[in-house]
Amino acid sequence: MSNSLLFSPFQIKSLSLKNRFVMAPMTRSQSPDGVPTADVASYYERRAAGEVGLILSEGTVIDRPAASNDKNIPRFHGEKSLAGWKKVIDAVHQSGGKMAPQIWHMGLMKPHQSGWLPEAPFEGPAEMSLTDIETTIEAYAQAALDAKTLGFDTVEVHGAHGYLVDQFFWEGMNKRTDIYGGKTISARNRFAVDVITAIRGKVGEDFPIIIRLSQWKQQQFEARIAPSPKEMEEWLLPLSEAGVDIFHCSQRRFWEPEFEGSDLNFAGWAKKITGKATITVGSIGLDGGDFIQSFKGEGAKAGPLDEIERRLHRGDFDLVAVGRALLSDPQWTKKIREERFGELKGFSKEHLAVLT
Ligand SMILES: Cc1cc2nc3c(=O)[nH]c(=O)nc-3n(C[C@H](O)[C@H](O)[C@H](O)COP(=O)(O)O)c2cc1C
Repeated sequence: MSNSLLFSPFQIKSLSLKNRFVMAPMTRSQSPDGVPTADVASYYERRAAGEVGLILSEGTVIDRPAASNDKNIPRFHGEKSLAGWKKVIDAVHQSGGKMAPQIWHMGLMKPHQSGWLPEAPFEGPAEMSLTDIETTIEAYAQAALDAKTLGFDTVEVHGAHGYLVDQFFWEGMNKRTDIYGGKTISARNRFAVDVITAIRGKVGEDFPIIIRLSQWKQQQFEARIAPSPKEMEEWLLPLSEAGVDIFHCSQRRFWEPEFEGSDLNFAGWAKKITGKATITVGSIGLDGGDFIQSFKGEGAKAGPLDEIERRLHRGDFDLVAVGRALLSDPQWTKKIREERFGELKGFSKEHLAVLT
């Protein structure tokens, strides 16, 4: 498939990619005390050697006391953790890959099942003060700057799936009455806009910024931040103006239309509205199902790529993120390029426990 558009290069600002495949961010919880190990570095390095164009790291948390509820989730702050990440990015570059950390604050979360709690006294939900907000925005910007300093090629802000940034977007969670809340998405956008503006101020103009967004939340699959194209404009345009270069539009199934009357998916609408580059995701290269089912133990066989290619040709999006298929098989992209379809592994739940 070397001649396929999926294997054509892509350039944005200082980032040049050899193909359109992106490894979706996937939490692995294999970094004891928040420090990525040599095994974590090799895990990403194998995807680079397997020809993934851009690797997005698992969510890695910013320097705030309640950013994480799991001590095995990697941190993106502190000398030891950043030294661990330096080994990751060097290994990825060594094998010809490009990579961004996905920087993350979980926001209001249930304690992790292990019983581990963040270091800060955990007294139950409290509204963030304006100082908390300011410090948190600064922590995102610092993480982005650290990413650039360590040699990462770009950075992704996790603004999806019901975590902190998304908790500001979502009217179901954001009950604030100050400038960070309000009845419209334009008002609830302010926190994310401030985060992107602060990051842009630190990393300069040429370093691409990705934001991952979703309509759905893990707390509520049917939730919608933008129930209409007009609200989607109000959501995305200010983010675009603040400095987002690539919108990573998270769906569980990429073929599902975003609004009635058009077959465009979320990434298709985001591109149409902002004119910016977009990444699509959701059950690509698998035979249906979705990743939530994988947590319930469901595997998935390898599936065709015709439909994703058709939409890429039509100009709906620029990049294509692959989660489970790449979690199970580091050679997935190379096998696709070489048309070794019979050798694709599909996804198996046993792979969730190990760094294959
Ligand atoms: C084990 C696992 C961990 C995940 N962790 C994250 C994460 O840290 N950040 C994130 O934005 N999405 C996360 N996701 C969602 C994936 O990035 C992706 O959107 C989802 O798996 C759909 O893609 P797929 O159908 O190709 O697997 C995770 C998914 C899986 C399966």
